[in-house]
Amino acid sequence: MTNSLSLKIKPHAAIIGAGRTNFGEQWYKDPEKLMIEAGINALESVDFGLGRKDIQACYFGSFLYQTTNKLGLVSGYMARELGINIPMNTTEAACASGGSAFYNACIAIKSGMYNVILVGGFEKMTDRFNKIIDDLMFAADPYEFDAGFTFPSLYASMMARYIHDYGDDQRCIEALAQIACKNHHHAVNNEYAQFRREITVQDVLKSPLVADPIRLLHCSPISDGAAAVILTKPELARKYTDAPIYVIASQQATDDVSLYTRESLTGIKVTRLALKKALDEVGISMKDIQIAEVHDCFTIEEAIFLEDSGFYEKGKAWKGIYESYESFKNSKHIPYVKDGKELIVNPGGGLKADGHPVGATGIRQIHECFIQLRGEAGKHQVDKEINLALCHNIGGTGGIATLHILTRDIYE
Ligand code: COA
Repeated sequence: MTNSLSLKIKPHAAIIGAGRTNFGEQWYKDPEKLMIEAGINALESVDFGLGRKDIQACYFGSFLYQTTNKLGLVSGYMARELGINIPMNTTEAACASGGSAFYNACIAIKSGMYNVILVGGFEKMTDRFNKIIDDLMFAADPYEFDAGFTFPSLYASMMARYIHDYGDDQRCIEALAQIACKNHHHAVNNEYAQFRREITVQDVLKSPLVADPIRLLHCSPISDGAAAVILTKPELARKYTDAPIYVIASQQATDDVSLYTRESLTGIKVTRLALKKALDEVGISMKDIQIAEVHDCFTIEEAIFLEDSGFYEKGKAWKGIYESYESFKNSKHIPYVKDGKELIVNPGGGLKADGHPVGATGIRQIHECFIQLRGEAGKHQVDKEINLALCHNIGGTGGIATLHILTRDIYE
């Protein structure tokens, strides 16, 4: 694998540092302070040293800071906090704001314009209390908002359709709950995660109904937090660290924001488009990926990803999930299994249990893969050799998706 990849691929960029804040309720911190905390952590993680004056540009992703915190031109606050006056760009792409900022930063590195970029994602959601549910609907069609939909109810439409079409079996209902149990299990040893407690299938199925059939424990939470990574040109990476992680695929696809115009409620076209381009770019298939950060905003989305990616056949993911969970529920990490091939999804708990401060999520996923690939994930380190990791970040109900594939040890 290593040699064949090294012959084919010129990476987009190298990641040389990564940092983040805890995710959860952070009542006394402004969004820009969260972002700075993550950014400083990322800078300090660079092995051979890197100062803030070495950063030549910043790319930030955030969805709602103008609404939640009445801020504008967040770059100005960042310039003040960092004490540097370099170009700073902010991307809004709903829950994929972080992934989209990362995509743009990769292009900037690849263009040759910058040697070192800081990429960050942040969100401060809890201060808005119940208003946040309406705020999130900026990422949906206004007709859907006017009809009374919320994000849980949009995804409930997808889950209801999935169960209607493919899940005439109690095991399907249990499988869609097991996804939450698995992700909570993975978060128990993740020091940054919002929920570090085990839950059972019965806990999920007895939790309060939010939008039938979605219950509270099928949902990702409302979270505050930030994450950051440092990018450089691949050929410069070893100046900063002996263990760079390379970005070998970086893709994005877009589609209509509304759910009601989609060709299907049980598949997400942007995932399929961006993933195919990403895998083709590297010349690999899903079978080669060992860990995947999947956008599990609601558990149904993780199941849909497993089908959109071809890991399981259409309509069969619930069966694969059920059988994998029953076989591996006592393991440190619970993989999905298909034809003897294991795929670990959301090794740190995903959006469900690590938390989902929406603009931070895409960068948090990159952070997770960075530490896993370097063997630095501490107590939640995956106990097997990993060389290829995938990050899947979507916005809205599938209006946008970004796909990144990361690896180590291929570019000398
Ligand atoms: N998973 C696990 N536990 C959760 C949780 C979640 N998603 N959301 C809340 N909790 C817990 C809280 O920690 C709290 O526990 P405690 O009583 O032990 O302190 C309890 O449940 C009640 O919390 P509360 O904040 O009152 O819940 P809520 O009813 O206001 O909100 C949801 C729950 C599910 C409605 C909310 O988390 C939500 O809207 N999630 C979806 C977010 C979303 O749409 N994101 C965009 C995705 S595209």
